[in-house]
Order: sequence, then structure tokens, then C-alpha cells
Amino acid sequence: MKPVKIGFLGFGTVGQGAATVIKRNAAEISRRIGRDIIVKSASVRNVNRELDPLLAEVELTTDSESIVNDPEIDVVVEVMGGDEPARTLLTTAIANGKHVVTANKALVACHGAEIFDAAREHGVSVAFEAAVAGGIPVIKSIREGLAGNRIQWVAGIINGTCNYILTEMLEKGREFEDVLEDAKALGYAEADPTFDVEGIDAAHKLTILASIAFGVPLQFEAVYIEGISSISREDTAYARELGYRIKHLGLAIDTGNGIELRVHPTLIPERRLIANVNGVMNAVLVQADAVGPTLYYGAGAGAEPTGSSVVADIMDVVRVASASVENRVPTLAFQHDALVDSHPLKPEEFQTSYYLRILAEDKPGVMADISRVLADEAISIEAIVQKEPVDNSGKLPIVLLTKKITEGSMNNAITKLESLSVIAGKVTRIRMESLGGN
Ligand code: NDP
Ligand code: HSE
Repeated sequence: MKPVKIGFLGFGTVGQGAATVIKRNAAEISRRIGRDIIVKSASVRNVNRELDPLLAEVELTTDSESIVNDPEIDVVVEVMGGDEPARTLLTTAIANGKHVVTANKALVACHGAEIFDAAREHGVSVAFEAAVAGGIPVIKSIREGLAGNRIQWVAGIINGTCNYILTEMLEKGREFEDVLEDAKALGYAEADPTFDVEGIDAAHKLTILASIAFGVPLQFEAVYIEGISSISREDTAYARELGYRIKHLGLAIDTGNGIELRVHPTLIPERRLIANVNGVMNAVLVQADAVGPTLYYGAGAGAEPTGSSVVADIMDVVRVASASVENRVPTLAFQHDALVDSHPLKPEEFQTSYYLRILAEDKPGVMADISRVLADEAISIEAIVQKEPVDNSGKLPIVLLTKKITEGSMNNAITKLESLSVIAGKVTRIRMESLGGN
């Protein structure tokens, strides 16, 4: 059969990673799909660069339009990132009848619906495995492997940069800025790394996961987002003493009354496998009604791991190219006219357990004051520990674990606690999930 010709929009970390995998594993790939894949061209901003000799035949251009309008190109791979010009270029490629593969989670989470509509209209496929959890084939697993299940919740460490920073800072004592520089040099971080550390990138990925897990529209704006800046060494140490690890998690939960979509630091019992996922590794835990819990683990970022997902997508779209649209696996796992209104819950309606750290005066009655405030909001205490003073102020850190309660009640309790004269400064609050089952 005639070789498949590919054009890349962007040829940085992921683009070169994918092209390297295609070139190095050409024989294996051809044995699997029965055709050769040729990387014809790639667009970049600056063509003056030295590519690995393996990629020497790739034509570099600054003219991205020439790629999406090239009649020889069958599949366009968008790995330039950002909103524009990626969005317009992909739309043009689709209108020209080309299948598209993208690693751009921001684009899929915020503009996926219009891109998928255009693809359906033109009878082409859009694939985006690399957009969630880098090298882990989690989209394919949920969309196809778990297709017979009703999915109850998904919890994932889905930002490699955050997990790398937390591991290096909190386990090895390194400074944030140093570790972030490493993450950039290793090609893990987004072009704007605040997307990583403030949780926006994880929220893009959670948006996609929730959609394919529950058959709901992509709704990035419904995700509650917190980054990693509030996690301290102190809280990490206290959490460990109590048998927990702190991880930056994305959670999509079908509560039966609506869907919780949230991204934030989370205490997880250390006995859970996911609590022991470190460095750039990602893991996604899926709770489904028939199979129970399943866990997907692997590199969440980086050139070849992400390239692995891009190449699998290219092979998939080539394989199904001859099937009619209705005979392909639906892009968002469910038939496009069968997506349901999900009723995303407001943050005050979320239900979870909490870790609280309170700095209190060393006086009789303090514990009683704290207990009274929590009791007034019907918050039950699971554990309470009074620690040694950490400085010369004489103030005592009190660490509390609560049972499940609504976020609204916890907000009220924290406001009241912070107004007590025996409490100094802000109460630290970290959400806690048991992630039972694995
Ligand atoms: P890079 O910054 O390494 O590469 C981006 C590439 O796009 C560069 O070659 C750049 O050109 C090119 N580019 C950017 N803007 C334009 C433009 N306007 N016209 C032409 N070329 C352009 O990014 P990554 O490879 O890391 O990421 C690409 C995408 O993949 C992003 O959406 C990212 O979120 C996603 N992703 C990244 C992962 C990773 O581990 N890095 C993992 C999973 C997804 P030049 O080289 O000249 O600057
Ligand atoms: N910046 C992203 C991360 C890349 O660190 O997870 C992979 O999506």
C-alpha cells in the first residue's frame, strides 16, 4: 500500500519525539499497519537548527499553511501548542479532508466541540491521546477498554511537571525555582509553566477525561482549580506522620446528583498505589461499576513517551480511515448526539474530607473552642494531633483530619476558626480522598 505522509505543525519536544519514534521503529510500525509512515514536513518559527541526523529528511518551513494545504499530506499532527494559530490551522486541515492528531489539551478542552463537529462534517478523525497523561494510553483505555462500564469516578496525577516538582522539593529538599528550571530543560513544562504549577494544564486534561468517562460535553469552565503553591514541607511531614502523601490530583466524580470536577493538592492514604507515583510519572485511577478500580501508570510528559501516544494515534487514524464515520470509535467515547447534560456541581456542594492545620495559643480551652466551631457545622473529627511549637512564638500547630463534609460547611467553619482570638493567622486546608479500592 502507498505510504502515509505526515505533516507536523510544530517540531519541538513532542514533534521531534514522535518523528524519532516513527523513524526508529519504522519496520515495527509498518508490520502493524501494513503501510510505511513518512514524515514529509514540519513547521516551526525558526528553521535555523540542527536536527538529529535521523530526522534530516524532514523539510522544515515557517509556513504552516503550506502543510495544511499540501495535497500529498494525509495526516496533520498539531504539536505547536496554544490557541491560535493552532485552532485555525487544524480547522483548515480538516476542511481539506486531512485526519488530525493533536497533543494540545488546551485546544481540545476549550475548543474540542467545534473541532469535532468540523471533523464529522468532513468525515475525518481527530485523535488526542497525547493530550492526557503523556505516554499513558488512558484515553484509549477508558474509551474502548472500559466501554462496557458505567464509570463512577476518575482520579489522576495528570501533570508531570507538578509531580516532578513536588517529588524533588518535598522528598529531596530542592528549591522550587531550581526544579522548575529542570522541568523546562527536560521538556516537561508548558510554554507558559504557570499552566502547570497553577493547575490549569491538569484542568484541561480533567475536562477531557470527564467527557470521555461520563459522556458529558467538554466543560473546562466548570473545573475548580488550585495549583501546588500552597503545599509546604511542614504539611507534607505532618501528612506523612499520619500515613498520607500529598499529591496534586484531578478528580471527576459522578455523585448521582451532579458531577464534581476539581483539581487541587490532596492527601491520599500512603497504602494506595497512586500515592507512591513520583517524579514525572502520572497515574490515572478509574473506578467503574463492572471492572472495579483500574490504574494506568506511566510517563506523563517528555519527548518520546508523548511521541509514543502521538504515533499510536497516527496509526489508529490511518487504520480507520476507510471506515465510515459512524463505524469509528466516537471521538468523545459516546455518540455525539448522546452526550448528556452533566450538571457540574458548585465548589460549595463538593463533598470531601479535610486536613486542617491551625496555629493556636498554648492556653487551656483551645481544643474545646475548635471542637465547638466544627460541631456547629456538623463536622466530625477523624483525628487530632497537637504538635510541638515550630518557632519561638509559643504557638502550637494543631493538625486535624475530618470526616466527609460539604465544602460550604468547611468554608463557614474556617471563617469562624480564623476569627477566634486563640487562633493565629490563616487555617491551612488540604482536601483528602480515600480513593478506596486500590
Ligand atoms: P515545544 O515548545 O517544545 O514545541 C513547540 C513547537 O511549535 C516548536 O517547534 C515551535 O517552533 C513551534 N511553534 C510554536 N508556535 C508556532 C507558530 N506560530 N508557527 C510555527 N511553529 C510554531 O512544545 P512541546 O513539544 O513541549 O508541546 C507541544 C504541544 O504538546 C503542546 O500543546 C503541549 O501542551 C503538548 N504536550 C506536551 C508534552 C510534553 O511533554 N512536552 C506532553 C503532552 C502534550 P520553534 O521550535 O521554532 O520555537
Ligand atoms: N506540561 C505537561 C505536564 C506536559 O507536565 O504534564 C504533558 O501534558
